[in-house]
Amino acid sequence: MKSNFERILITAALPYANGFLHLGHLAGAYLPADIYARYQRLKKRNVLFLCGSDEHGVAITVSAEKEKTTPVKIIDRYHPANKTTFEEFGMSFDNYSRTSLPLHHENAKEFFKEFHHHHILIDKKEQQLYCLKDKMFLADRYVEGTCPKCKSAQARGDQCENCGTWLDQTELIEPKCKLCGSTPVVKETTHWYFPLGRYQERLEKYIDERNKRDGWKENVLRYCEGWFKDGLKDRAVTRDLDWGVRVPVKGYEDKVIYVWFDAVLGYISSAKEWAANIGRPEEWRTYWQNNDSKYVAFIGKDNVVFHCIVFPAMLMAWNDSNPDNFVLPENVPANEFLNFEGQKFSKSRGWGIDVQDFLKFFPADMLRYALAVNLPETRDSDFYLKDFQARINNELADIAGNFINRTIAFIDKNYDGKVPDKGEFHKLDEEIIEIVKKAPAAIGSLFEHYSFREGLMETMNLSRAANKYFNDSEPWKTLKTDPKRCSTTLYIAVQLVRSLAILLEPVVPGTSKRIWSLLNLDTTMKDEGWDSASEFRIEEGHKLSKPEILINKIEDKKIDEILKFLEGGNNKTEGQMPPLKPVITINDFQKIDLRVGRIIEAEKVPKSTKLVKLQVEIGNEKRQVVAGIAHHYKPEDLTGKLVVIVANLQPAKLMGYESQGMILAASTETGELTLVGLQSDISTGSAVK
Ligand code: 2FM
Ligand code: ZN
Repeated sequence: MKSNFERILITAALPYANGFLHLGHLAGAYLPADIYARYQRLKKRNVLFLCGSDEHGVAITVSAEKEKTTPVKIIDRYHPANKTTFEEFGMSFDNYSRTSLPLHHENAKEFFKEFHHHHILIDKKEQQLYCLKDKMFLADRYVEGTCPKCKSAQARGDQCENCGTWLDQTELIEPKCKLCGSTPVVKETTHWYFPLGRYQERLEKYIDERNKRDGWKENVLRYCEGWFKDGLKDRAVTRDLDWGVRVPVKGYEDKVIYVWFDAVLGYISSAKEWAANIGRPEEWRTYWQNNDSKYVAFIGKDNVVFHCIVFPAMLMAWNDSNPDNFVLPENVPANEFLNFEGQKFSKSRGWGIDVQDFLKFFPADMLRYALAVNLPETRDSDFYLKDFQARINNELADIAGNFINRTIAFIDKNYDGKVPDKGEFHKLDEEIIEIVKKAPAAIGSLFEHYSFREGLMETMNLSRAANKYFNDSEPWKTLKTDPKRCSTTLYIAVQLVRSLAILLEPVVPGTSKRIWSLLNLDTTMKDEGWDSASEFRIEEGHKLSKPEILINKIEDKKIDEILKFLEGGNNKTEGQMPPLKPVITINDFQKIDLRVGRIIEAEKVPKSTKLVKLQVEIGNEKRQVVAGIAHHYKPEDLTGKLVVIVANLQPAKLMGYESQGMILAASTETGELTLVGLQSDISTGSAVK
């Protein structure tokens, strides 16, 4: 293995900005990439970690058509949403770019022009599918049909999702226009083709060599072998579409570059954007155009052909005619798929759970932990909520959390929070010291080889050993019977807490940061580094912070809540938020008098299924309010509730009853409703502003 790399360039697949990220995305590419990046940084290596939104292609235009809106509206909704979700999940990207940026368009055009100039691209007249009704060529996902290879009925014009075959649309059996359902005709058009076949021999050699050097994953190698066996063919890299990077060749301006051809170049654009942002615009070259740089591209299995074959071939083609050579991926660790509660994630069927929704119920580290122990590294894996609960409670809380808590709490209680004396080591101590000495290298080597699941298991084994050490040493007894022993035990235990903080960081960075602050050290984890986890660095007498519970167990109630959320029609495709209203000024808002009220009486309005008649106390006033909430609340459950009421609304009559105000409630498009409540008791009549 080549080990003298100066820098590590890490990319994670650019997700399409046409939907929210779900747990499958995280398990496929993003969490492994982040564990790797964080681990490498702790190893004090020079890391650049890049990602961004893929904002072109038919995935985006079809979404826009479905919602009767424009591609720009779609990407402007999902790009910021996904960027935020990634931040909340703790992804440590150095840059999160987007392919709609002018900088990216320029970059993609430069590659295209270069290939055109050197006659690498070939223009060919081809028969393509054309819909007479929609008057357009049916690029990629605009056409569906039966896969010639696996006979799945839902193959798209560019790829069969079922067997992963990268298709030529004319190979589809019984093609149908995705927009109108009619059978397309065949019509001639001209496109530019990239001659992949010319690179086959070099690609085979490249993968073989890198595999020998860095150990590629079996699943990835198998996919590649399949491609090579079939023989690589010329591939069209332009499309008859309006949305995308314009083809920079005279006479072809009405076409765009094929989305995959521009998307992979998005990794380079992201580096360029990063370099510009830090004020050293040429700095991207030190990662991309330098043989000392190790490039690792994290993806999901459906992206293998584009990252192991298409992208390297493009880079080879560039390198052949340019002195500034790009590095090729040293490895492409691709994961298989994650299923949710026994079924495949599916946007169209509305099955699965979005990351942003999940994070409303549970902290990011719980999700990171549960996904990491169950990564689909060698085969598809399953995410069940019950498993999730068990993993967090029985492993993260009971093993790691418990050991850390009891150590800090014991020192706080019995040693006034000061690390006790080291004393003399006995056999039990020597044993755990041996274990922790080896841990960073053992775990690191697994991470280095992209076995994140096993790496985490090793870390948890260390937690288990630490817990056992604490139990076997019985400090609660030796505190009285043998105080020196007790002090040694706690001296060692607190060192183990420090080691665990470091070794857990790549997987649960938020928790790890909290452990570090419990230790009250004045260095950062990064200063001390991964390898230092094998050492004892906290000095005798060092004062720790006050103990606090690190990981709360997940109660059944919480799992029921999320299950209810999933069943309640929330587990649906995105784009359901009603449009926002025009901006108002603060003066407009101040015209509304919002007050805290308490419901003191509630009864159903006779002959109405929807209305409830309420008596609401606001300060020393009583109001009658008629509210349409009978489907959601029983009258008897309403009395006593604190609510927010619009107090200066013109009175109105509903079913013969006067309503002197309006109660605030949140409701979804699908008709769920919940009253706006208050976090704690406050006197009625208080203004809400
Ligand atoms: O599968 C996807 O979501 C693609 N947008 C991944 C692109 S990865 C790279 F090419 F940018
Ligand atoms: Zn197929």
